[in-house]
Amino acid sequence: MKYEGWAIYDEAGIQRIAAAADILSRLFGYLTPLIRPGVSTAELDARAEEFIRAEGGEPAFKGYKPPFEDAAYPYTLCVSINHEVVHGLPSPTRILQEGQIVSIDCGVRVDGFHADMAYTFAVGEVPPPVQKLLWVTRTALERAIAQVRAGVALGTIGHTIHNFVKGYTFAVAENLTGHGVGVAMHMEPDVPNVGKPGQGPRLPANLVIAIEPMVHMGGKRIKKGADGWAVETSDGSLAAHFEHTVVVRPGGAQVLTSFEPIYQALAHV
Ligand code: MF3
Ligand code: CO
Repeated sequence: MKYEGWAIYDEAGIQRIAAAADILSRLFGYLTPLIRPGVSTAELDARAEEFIRAEGGEPAFKGYKPPFEDAAYPYTLCVSINHEVVHGLPSPTRILQEGQIVSIDCGVRVDGFHADMAYTFAVGEVPPPVQKLLWVTRTALERAIAQVRAGVALGTIGHTIHNFVKGYTFAVAENLTGHGVGVAMHMEPDVPNVGKPGQGPRLPANLVIAIEPMVHMGGKRIKKGADGWAVETSDGSLAAHFEHTVVVRPGGAQVLTSFEPIYQALAHV
């Protein structure tokens, strides 16, 4: 991975990341009621771009060439359906259907500062085991966030996620990690979803990281999809992905992206 150094900021920098995170949080509230059977993923992408620009931000993924790819990403959102883990492409022919799960991942930039967030939604009703996958992934992220404070070892974060997910017999996606974020989309450090408690670098105060567990119902293996972007589970099992941008503070995590679907949706009306 290519990085631009550790993502550590002064308060002015953190405020600018927070401004991007605020747009992103409200974007998810705006999108929530649109995520239903029959909507095209291209329409979600178009609405997302429109919303971000109207709020004074820029879609950070659009035109961004990730360190792990050869080409620039062409859209505002990554929209990953069912067995797609991350980097699913919006398309007019990819229409959401009842019973699917869909992971929406988005980055917003304001004044050169980035925030990153993802959330997996059920499209209509999904059966209890699928609800459990969403709950376990979201709760793994919450548990990891609860471990964050200045001085914590990176391995403790990864261990918290992996250990929680294992307990429900799901798998953490191999080789996919969170990351430092701010003046670039992907910065140091890598934030793995596995680890040993107390091992690895200790997180300094004012580090900003995107923590993002990606969890499979089946095995941990991943493969590249036919379109060259999507990352899918090798066994075709369902995958979920939740991500927040957080600041490491002496007393704990300051979560910059927040998401309470109903509150956020109402706040936009
Ligand atoms: N959202 C991904 C991450 O969380 C990055 C997507 S980059 C893109 O790290 F270019 F694929 F959009
Ligand atoms: Co990310």
